Amino acid sequence: MARHLSAAGHQVFATELTLAGVAALRDGVSGTGVTVSLGDGLQPVWHEPVDCVVVAGMGYETILEIVSTHDHIASHPRFIVQPMQGALLLHQAIIEQGWTILQADIAQYRRHLYPTWLLDMYHIDHARDNGPHAQFLPTEFRGSPAYVEWLERERRFRRQALTHRQSTRMRQEVDWLTAEVNSERKRE
Ligand SMILES: C[S@@+](CC[C@H](N)C(=O)[O-])C[C@H]1O[C@@H](n2cnc3c(N)ncnc32)[C@H](O)[C@@H]1O
Repeated sequence: MARHLSAAGHQVFATELTLAGVAALRDGVSGTGVTVSLGDGLQPVWHEPVDCVVVAGMGYETILEIVSTHDHIASHPRFIVQPMQGALLLHQAIIEQGWTILQADIAQYRRHLYPTWLLDMYHIDHARDNGPHAQFLPTEFRGSPAYVEWLERERRFRRQALTHRQSTRMRQEVDWLTAEVNSERKRE
């Protein structure tokens, strides 16, 4: 991704937490203008004039840890976040924190679905519904062609989990997902 962004004309800073990660990253971007740094999350770019930060390819907990230090970046960039697991939990955190969702889409690549958000974390969205239903259902993806398929995967996962244990919360989530799938199908 760093290579691609650099080839598209962007000035790119790529950060890695481990020495092995930095070595692999350096290999991957050699011959490009990408600046590689060793460091935790956003720390290497705190004082750089960044206009957009991409945090991708990690679980939602790591992403949340990294983006929660956004106030250290003087230039107040936009954030693109793409979790490998826990997208519904990341959605919940976005709603709880009140971060403004500028855009949301589900990317498809080799049968995998990747929910991705563009966020403005420096402006709190006070107008948004903050109830338990809105916190759970990621309706910001309604315009995405992969939305229903992704909801169905989330629902299947929960249904399977429910056959092994009883969870009132999970049953509620299955019901919310079912209602959303049905109403989206009616709109198609
Ligand atoms: C699954 S890999 C994704 C790699 C990259 N997106 C790619 O396509 O090659 C996740 C990478 O994030 C790095 N990472 C995890 N936590 C980090 C943090 N707090 N700061 C910087 N890098 C981190 C890991 O070292 C690992 O190399």
